Amino acid sequence: MKLKKVFKSKVAGYSQLLSKRFDQFSYDHWPRSYLKAKDSMILSKNGVWYLDMSISGIGACVLGYSNEDIDKSVIEVIKNGVASSVNSELEESLALKLLNYCPEHNLVRFCKSGGEAVSIAVRVCRGYTGKSKILFSGYHGWSDWYLAANLGDINNLNNHLLRSLEPFGVPKELCGTSEPFDCENLSDLEQKIIKSEIPIGGIVMEPARSKEADRTLLLEIKKIAQKFSIPLVFDEISSGFRHTKGPYSQTLGITPDIYVFAKSIGNGYPIAAITGTHDIMSCFNKSFVSSTNWTEATGLGAACAVLDYMNKHSTHTYITELGNYWEQSIKSLSKNLSFEINTSGLPGMKYFNHPEAPDIFRTFFTVFSLEKELLVAGRYYPNFKQTKKNIDFYMTVLEDCIRKYKTLSRHEVESFCGRIMPTGFNILDQK
Ligand SMILES: Cc1ncc(COP(=O)(O)O)c(C=O)c1O
Repeated sequence: MKLKKVFKSKVAGYSQLLSKRFDQFSYDHWPRSYLKAKDSMILSKNGVWYLDMSISGIGACVLGYSNEDIDKSVIEVIKNGVASSVNSELEESLALKLLNYCPEHNLVRFCKSGGEAVSIAVRVCRGYTGKSKILFSGYHGWSDWYLAANLGDINNLNNHLLRSLEPFGVPKELCGTSEPFDCENLSDLEQKIIKSEIPIGGIVMEPARSKEADRTLLLEIKKIAQKFSIPLVFDEISSGFRHTKGPYSQTLGITPDIYVFAKSIGNGYPIAAITGTHDIMSCFNKSFVSSTNWTEATGLGAACAVLDYMNKHSTHTYITELGNYWEQSIKSLSKNLSFEINTSGLPGMKYFNHPEAPDIFRTFFTVFSLEKELLVAGRYYPNFKQTKKNIDFYMTVLEDCIRKYKTLSRHEVESFCGRIMPTGFNILDQK
């Protein structure tokens, strides 16, 4: 492939979201922007319609791009006015619908994005307990409270999805106010609670991401949280409302003190939610948490329609089927071609790598697939508009790709790929 010209962008840092930035896929060849997206197809600025079998809008568009039913509901919301001096009736409707999925919770708050919602949950936990330090496991967004963990040690966040996150711009005075724990090591959690100089005000965790959760372990974590009277927050921004009906942890029969949802509950429209028990959530009466655009109604309307659609079509069953089919197909291809590929993840968000050369092979597959008008990445987030035939096509391309890869020297592979970059936070120059 011919290398593209240097990309000039007026967007500082090139993208509002790291996971959609070109260097996460292929620095030189990934389409820089789209003009249209429908179901599982994306029309890029250079006029190519790609079949998207990559990240489905990083897991936000679980019902497919521009889903007719959701868009129709949102258009109605727009016609009725997305904002006024009075709150939209949709706030109460969505609160009722969402609480149906969280039987032990009584109250809800809405905002617009995931990291923002977790920050709100952290504020409420700190207010409720009067204690400052947060123990966490998993990825929880860009906020100061989370990145503060890397002030003490730059490697603290390395095992929590994104490596090498510089806490650039985060007040150094926040050092020691958040710390990761190993969610598979109960004594690590308990010791961190007991030994911390700053008392613990909240435990924030993703119940699962790279594999299915161990129910017993989650129950033990809940017990520890209760023993020390620390609110437990499950961040279900990625795990919830995808391959399970509602929150992932509800399928295990475990309810935390607070849930955080975003992404799939809006199918790409901006909406996030925090649900919780009355005693904790009533802290919102004391803590100033407030923003004009949180009352804007398209996200609320979209989420009402999304929950109805998911219910009507049992989308979680189909998403699970697609995720499992993808994994089985990769495994048998890997075996047939004697080419090592590891897979991991929940059915609704899958990962793969070729352990011998993960970044090189991922980039090679991505660039190879672009020539076939197919978008792929090192992960696969199924969406409801994809089919098993789409996965079969993906596997044909992957098979051709592996066969070609095996015939090339390292130098030939690298010149085919263009610049090869790891996923995660690469610091890019911008002129
Ligand atoms: C578990 C989890 N928490 C928080 C976030 C941050 O959400 P957002 O990108 O909407 O701010 C993400 C995003 O990937 C996530 O997966």
